[in-house]
Amino acid sequence: MDAKSLEVKSFTPMPLSRSVDPTLDLEAEIKRLRREKNAVILAHYYQEAEIQDIADFVGDSLDLSRKAAATDADMIVFCGVRFMAEVAKILSPQKKVVLPDLEAGCSLEDSCQAEDFRRFREAHPDHVSLTYINCSAEVKALTDIIVTSSNAEHIIRQIPADQPILFAPDRHLGAYLAKKTGRPMTLWPGTCIVHERFSEEELLKLKAQHPDAPVAAHPECPDFILAHAEHVGSTSSILKFALSHDAKTFIIATEPHIIHQMEKAAPHKVFLGAPGADGQCSCNNCPFMALNTMEKLYLCLRDETPEIIVPEDIRLKALKPLERMLEMSPPMAQNRVAAMAS
Ligand code: 13P
Ligand code: SF4
Repeated sequence: MDAKSLEVKSFTPMPLSRSVDPTLDLEAEIKRLRREKNAVILAHYYQEAEIQDIADFVGDSLDLSRKAAATDADMIVFCGVRFMAEVAKILSPQKKVVLPDLEAGCSLEDSCQAEDFRRFREAHPDHVSLTYINCSAEVKALTDIIVTSSNAEHIIRQIPADQPILFAPDRHLGAYLAKKTGRPMTLWPGTCIVHERFSEEELLKLKAQHPDAPVAAHPECPDFILAHAEHVGSTSSILKFALSHDAKTFIIATEPHIIHQMEKAAPHKVFLGAPGADGQCSCNNCPFMALNTMEKLYLCLRDETPEIIVPEDIRLKALKPLERMLEMSPPMAQNRVAAMAS
């Protein structure tokens, strides 16, 4: 495969008008269009509260890819970042997949360009490559097995002990998994700009103010944050932990929009976002997820654009490591937050 054939194009034909009448009842319009077009709205926990509330299904990366693979809707409206919508298209090529804002990328995806990744693999010919789902379709096409933070540990434990492993692109998740499983791995040096911004000093101050509050952290956080966490796991496992633990107050070290689901499900509990370096948690909002808004969700349902297009040669190559991931994942947990909007 040459560099040219690895290029993935998502395209955005310019519609005639992208402005929204301010008097429009966006919620009602989105519901009407969804019904008329037999569309399903999938949303990640990091989306703004209004989007989570109107979605048919809210979940983590693994839950959302399973939903995308299983849906019988004609159109998938993906409220998340671009790599997530690409996964939906790779698994459901016959469906139209739209994303409210095509600029919704991910710093981990940006850190790992396909040509560099190809050289990384060529430099380690005896290694099996495990790649975090936060990467482009081109990188997936060059990978052996895709993992998410929900299933990575389970999948690594199925790989023969003498098989060396390459892990890309998140070095914090890779280091956490290597420690947890006892499997040394050669790591790609990428990071999530959101989870890197938590401050250990500020976290310790907050813990001192709330000594009984357990800390739940996403494994994209650096080790100096994970070291203070009672629970480390994917967004859905953090949610499950916060809802099932009997503490009254929790410190949540991941993108703070997930707190919306916690407050809805357990209004009697208090959920504090772990602070960034300035002592505020607003610097831990994902700027890519924030590009999707209710207005853009309405427009993309109305105009059916921007549409995610993955060239068929890349799709077929990227499908294999995604199918391996689904085969090697633990059995599906109960849908934690499956709000069927009327
Ligand atoms: P989850 O799979 O845990 O939802 O993580 C996705 C992500 O992008 C975290 O930053
Ligand atoms: Fe990417 Fe980090 Fe945003 Fe997740 S939170 S989408 S890893 S930039």
